[in-house]
Amino acid sequence: MTQLSGLLDTEAIRKDFPVLDRVVHDGRKLVYLDNAATSQKPRQVLDALNEYYERYNANVHRGVHVLAEEATALYEGARDKVAEFINAPSRDEVIFTKNASESLNLVANMLGWADEPYRVDHETEIVITEMEHHSNIVPWQLLAQRTGAKLKWFGLTDDGRLDLSNIDEIITEKTKIVSFVLVSNILGTVNPVEAIVRRAQEVGALVCVDASQAAPHMPLDVQALQADFVAFTGHKMCGPTGIGVLWGRQELLEDLPPFLGGGEMIETVSMHSSTYAPAPHKFEAGTPPIAQAVGLGAAIDYLQAIGMEKILAHEHALTQYAVERLAQVPDLRIIGPTTAEDRGAAISFTLGDIHPHDVGQVLDEQGIAVRVGHHCARPVCLRYGIPATTRASFYLYSTPAEIDALVDGLEHVRNFFG
Ligand code: ALA
Repeated sequence: MTQLSGLLDTEAIRKDFPVLDRVVHDGRKLVYLDNAATSQKPRQVLDALNEYYERYNANVHRGVHVLAEEATALYEGARDKVAEFINAPSRDEVIFTKNASESLNLVANMLGWADEPYRVDHETEIVITEMEHHSNIVPWQLLAQRTGAKLKWFGLTDDGRLDLSNIDEIITEKTKIVSFVLVSNILGTVNPVEAIVRRAQEVGALVCVDASQAAPHMPLDVQALQADFVAFTGHKMCGPTGIGVLWGRQELLEDLPPFLGGGEMIETVSMHSSTYAPAPHKFEAGTPPIAQAVGLGAAIDYLQAIGMEKILAHEHALTQYAVERLAQVPDLRIIGPTTAEDRGAAISFTLGDIHPHDVGQVLDEQGIAVRVGHHCARPVCLRYGIPATTRASFYLYSTPAEIDALVDGLEHVRNFFG
C-alpha cells in the first residue's frame, strides 16, 4: 500500500462510516469519490439523529413542557457549536437555513429589500466570479434583474485561478456587494480572499463568501476572513441534509430586513404591521430544521475530535498524490490547478474525447462513485470549451488505495473506448 505522510488513521475512521462497507455491482467494494457533492455520515451523527427523535422530539422556542425545553436546548446548543467552529464573535450571528443555496439567497434578498446604505439599485454594481456554483450566480442575477443593478464578474486564468489583474475596474465605488467562493467545487481552486476583501473594503462594499467546499475541509475562521457574510452547508461536512448556515456580522443582521416572514421571527404582530425578533430568529421563520441542526452539531463534534488541521493535511497529501497519479494517465487533462498548492480535494478532468458521462458510467460499474456533468458551475465548462468534466473528490476517510483504484478504473475506461 502507498505510504504518504500526513495521512489520518483511515482504517479507524472508516469504521465510523457504515456506508463505506457497501458492496455495489457484482461484489465490488464501494470507492466513494463524490464527497464534494455530499459527504458520508459517521455513526455518531446517525446516532444523534436517532436519539433526538427517540427521546427529545418537540418544537423549539414554543413550549413549556420538558421535551420542548430539551429540544430547544439541543437546537440552540447546535448554534453554539457552529459559532465556536467558525470562531464567530457571537452565537447570534449564526442563522440556520436549509442549505448554502438558501443562505446565499437570503443575503441577496436582505440586500434586495434593504434601505440605504445597503440598498442595491440601478446605480449600483454586484460582483461575483466566473467560477461560482449556480447558487452564487442565480440569486445575484435575480437581484440585478429586479433592481436594475449591474452584475460584473472576475474571469478565470487558463490554469483555473481567478484573474484579478483588473480588480480595480471590477470592484469600484459603485460596488455594493462582492460574493465569491472560497474553494471552487469544480476546479478545486482556493481563492485569495485577502486581496478581494482588501479591495472591497477600500470601496465600502460588503463581502459574502461561499464556504461550502471549505468548511468541511479546513479550519474556518470568519473573523480572520474579514467577510461580512459566510455561507455553508451541513451535508458536505458529515452532517445531515436540510441544514445550512449563514453567518453574518451582528450590526448587519440588526440593520437588514428579513426575507421570509412567519412564526417565531416576530416580536409583535397586529393586523396592520409587525415588528421582528432580534437576529438570528428574525431570519428563521417557521419551524426550523431542528433534528438536522442537532445532527450538524454532532458532525462538528466529530470533525473537531479529529481536528480540522489534520483533515486539511490528510486531504492535501491525497490531492498531491492524486494529481501526480492522474498526470500519468494518457489523454487526461485536469481542469483547474495541476498542483496541490492552493487547491482543495476536488479534481475535475477530461479524458480524451470520451464523454464524462461515459467515464462516470464505466467507473460506476467498477464500484467507483464520481460526479460527472457541469457540477452546477456551467460557466466554468463554457470558459474551458468543454461540455462537462469527471470530478473525483476526497474527504477524511479517503485513501491512497482509492486513488489507485480510480487510476486503474480510468485505464479500464480508456481500454473500453479503444
Ligand atoms: N454543490 C455540489 C457539488 O458540487 C452538489 O456536487
